[in-house]
Amino acid sequence: RKYNVAILGATGAVGTELLALLEERNFPLGKLKVLASERSAGKSVKFADEDLIIEAVTESSFDDVDIVLASAGGSISKKWLPIATKAGAVSIDNSSAFRMNPEVPLIVPEVNPEAAAKHKGIIANPNCTTILLSVAIYPLHQVQPIQRIVAATYQSASGAGARAMEEVKLQSQAILNGEPAIAEVLPYPLAFNLFPHNSPMTDNSYCEEEMKMVNETRKIFDDPEIRITATCVRVPVLRAHSEAINLEFAQPFSTDKAREILASASGVQLVEDFSKNYFPMPIEASGKDDVLVGRIRQDISHPNALELWLCGDQIRKGAALNAVQIAELLIAKSLL
Ligand code: A2P
Repeated sequence: RKYNVAILGATGAVGTELLALLEERNFPLGKLKVLASERSAGKSVKFADEDLIIEAVTESSFDDVDIVLASAGGSISKKWLPIATKAGAVSIDNSSAFRMNPEVPLIVPEVNPEAAAKHKGIIANPNCTTILLSVAIYPLHQVQPIQRIVAATYQSASGAGARAMEEVKLQSQAILNGEPAIAEVLPYPLAFNLFPHNSPMTDNSYCEEEMKMVNETRKIFDDPEIRITATCVRVPVLRAHSEAINLEFAQPFSTDKAREILASASGVQLVEDFSKNYFPMPIEASGKDDVLVGRIRQDISHPNALELWLCGDQIRKGAALNAVQIAELLIAKSLL
């Protein structure tokens, strides 16, 4: 059987990757509908050898659609996904709008595929840094429960969308030409700079991005007790995120064992050559499906803790690929 799919936000950074993935993965695709704002209506996007005409989203957009892949921001998802549910479609949402809703499963297929069975029409795709973290550390957590996670992230411009990526390129050019770097999409110039993540500040002085890592990891692992703290930073990288992670266990966890587990973990690629200081890098993670993990070492300040470093493509596994994998999971388990 084939499935009719609508991409909501088809012109964006994640929407563009969703199109590429549906083609590349031989998804059992029936009709494909590309939806965006009024601004893009009538323009076209490429899919396989076809030009698909973009439609502005309307009340009737989801009639005859089986799966909605939404990536147009939280307010758009809040407005349109309940309408898609009424029309009988199942939505996989990239925004944060429904992630912490107890009625909505939050899924990383390598970690908690079983949660998909409880869906009521909407499934949430987690935050990008959380997806990359979960894929890399859950295999260790299964062998010996992690008690505390300390994370520092180095997040690319792609997390703020296609326009932010363009802005970083323009700023870089401006600076090399001796001109001022203009920031319009991001709050400060990112080229040749970095700044703590620009998501809204919360009452506890952590920004929303940091609290997403805390709350979403707990929900995905189904472990409300796990302690997590994070510092999220934007860096002038175009599309892959990096994370420095410290994991604390109840007892020592040998680096050899961690390496052996991660070498065979699904969605993970071990990348490390200590003799060459060669470890995961965002330019090598870009375009790849796997999360690259390396620099696994004993924390010299704590007998029960490990350090590791990871890079993952924010647009692929951090967003579009995870969403398509959720769709594939729904099909495989007859959950549509
Ligand atoms: P458009 O290009 O028509 O503005 P990104 O995350 O890369 O910034 O992409 C955001 C996506 O969300 C784009 O495809 C954008 O389409 C879409 N979008 C933004 N506003 C709306 C809206 N009001 N209705 C539908 N799609 C929207």
